[in-house]
Amino acid sequence: MVVILLIVFILIHPCVPSSRCNEPRAYRDTEEWKHLFIGKCLLYRNDYGPRVLCDSNINCNDLWPMVKTAVESQPKCNFSMDNYEEFLIASAHYVPENKFLFWSGVYSLVMRYSDKGRKFYTISDTLTGYLFDNVVWCGNTTEADGIEKYPGTCPGFEIGPECPSSAQSVFWATASQHYARHAYGEVHVMINASRTPAFRNSSYFTQYELPNLNATKVPKATILMVHYITDPVLETCSSESIEKLKSSLNETGITPYCIDNPRDVQLLLCVDIPTHPQCEQLISSSHRERYSLYLFSIIVFIFSLA
Ligand SMILES: *[C@@H]1O[C@H](CO)[C@@H](O)[C@H](O)[C@H]1NC(C)=O
Ligand SMILES: *[C@@H]1O[C@H](CO)[C@@H](O)[C@H](O)[C@H]1NC(C)=O
Ligand SMILES: *[C@@H]1O[C@H](CO)[C@@H](O)[C@H](O)[C@H]1NC(C)=O
Ligand SMILES: *[C@@H]1O[C@H](CO)[C@@H](O)[C@H](O)[C@H]1NC(C)=O
Ligand SMILES: *[C@@H]1O[C@H](CO)[C@@H](O)[C@H](O)[C@H]1NC(C)=O
Ligand SMILES: *[C@@H]1O[C@H](CO)[C@@H](O)[C@H](O)[C@H]1NC(C)=O
Repeated sequence: MVVILLIVFILIHPCVPSSRCNEPRAYRDTEEWKHLFIGKCLLYRNDYGPRVLCDSNINCNDLWPMVKTAVESQPKCNFSMDNYEEFLIASAHYVPENKFLFWSGVYSLVMRYSDKGRKFYTISDTLTGYLFDNVVWCGNTTEADGIEKYPGTCPGFEIGPECPSSAQSVFWATASQHYARHAYGEVHVMINASRTPAFRNSSYFTQYELPNLNATKVPKATILMVHYITDPVLETCSSESIEKLKSSLNETGITPYCIDNPRDVQLLLCVDIPTHPQCEQLISSSHRERYSLYLFSIIVFIFSLA
């Protein structure tokens, strides 16, 4: 009986693939990338547009040919440095003062924290970065249209001596330079405190953003030292690498500030593990503060009556 049931179960059970789909589909033709690009552009206009695109006349269809031309037939590891200029200028738009957020080594967290520009703007919260965020691409010198059809074979965005300039690394490098030059008001820099050194000279932030901040427009930079609740804290505001970052900001005329384990970031992370001792402590201390404030208001009220 059991055997029969089992056989029936196996026969009627839909065939579920045994491996999870974590491999991106290997083949992507240029038309599909174009649809992805223009689709992302329309989505950005819909989701962020009302806050940042109202006085710009960016046309999604006009941006695509600029990117296609920049990438086509470019060698995989010898991508020319200024190819994206036209696109970078055409896709630039307004970002509110004091909202520029730079980062290093904390991609997933910084994207949660920025909250699609509601709190801050990372480069991937601007149209320029958004169009390429989580996208893999490169040229191919022998393809008829010059675009690689197997993005999995592209060298990616890691900067390294074995592939000094790829379609992606040159994009993020030059886009970062533009973003940093554009910054005005107080800026924030989110740094991974679970890595040592936390401030590293090989990062995009160090190479392309820090040297392009303009002290005339950026009086102050606040460093946010962050870590996942269960990860170790290997560096703090007073660690050697962060002291180096502070003094290089100071040298350019930008006043550095630094916050270890900012409370808003910690509260955001506690949403995932509210029962962790550190989170319980954090939440109960918020209660205490609220309670004190409440007591204080009552006392003030009583005195005002007297
Ligand atoms: C890279 O491209 C430039 C021209 O864009 C060329 O002069 C140079 O020789 C190339 N380098 C390598 C290593 O192929
Ligand atoms: C910091 O870096 C470590 C090591 O690369 C990584 O495991 C961790 O997820 C990072 N933390 C954050 C907040 O991104
Ligand atoms: C270009 O694409 C073809 C076809 O997929 C592939 O065989 C070739 O290796 C690629 N060339 C380069 C330089 O990546
Ligand atoms: C980066 O730091 C390492 C060691 O701290 C040093 O040897 C190297 O020259 C630095 N590179 C740059 C570009 O500053
Ligand atoms: C810095 O900003 C000021 C004020 O906008 C501008 O006049 C100056 O040219 C900028 N400097 C650089 C190096 O871009
Ligand atoms: C920042 O620079 C000023 C001079 O421009 C100097 O007096 C001060 O000590 C510096 N502070 C730090 C923390 O390096």
